[in-house]
Amino acid sequence: VIRKLNHVAIAVPDLDVAVTLYRTTFGAKVSDRVELPEQGVTLVFVEFEDTKVELMEPLGEASPIGPFLERNISGGIHHICYEVSDMHEAIAQLQKVGMRILDGSTPSVGAHGKPVVFLHPKDNFGTLVELEEA
Ligand code: CO
Repeated sequence: VIRKLNHVAIAVPDLDVAVTLYRTTFGAKVSDRVELPEQGVTLVFVEFEDTKVELMEPLGEASPIGPFLERNISGGIHHICYEVSDMHEAIAQLQKVGMRILDGSTPSVGAHGKPVVFLHPKDNFGTLVELEEA
C-alpha cells in the first residue's frame, strides 16, 4: 500500500525562527512560505534529496495545529506522510482491516495539490499518518 516516505511535518510556534534554523544553521534548502487558509497552516518545505520536512505554523484562530502547540509549546513532530500510488485502492485495503480514516474516506487536496487522507493515530502507534497519492 505505501511506497515511500514523502515528508515529516513539524509544528513550530514561530515559522521565521524555524526557517532560520534550517536555512542558516543547517544550510538546508527551504521553500518560500505557503499559506493554506483552508488547512489553517502556513508552511515551508525543507527539501532533501529524497524526502522533505514540512515546518508548519498555525494560521488563523481555528488552526488544527493550535491545540497541538498548546500541548507541545516548543513544537514537535505532528505527522508523517507516506506515498501511495492509488489512493482509492489504499483506502479500500486499510478499511478492510478496520483502519480509521479521519474526516471520512474522501481524500482532500493536500499541501502539494494532491489527494491526501489522514489515518487515526490510535491505529498507528500514536502517530498521525498522512497518505498522499504520488
Ligand atoms: Co503533511
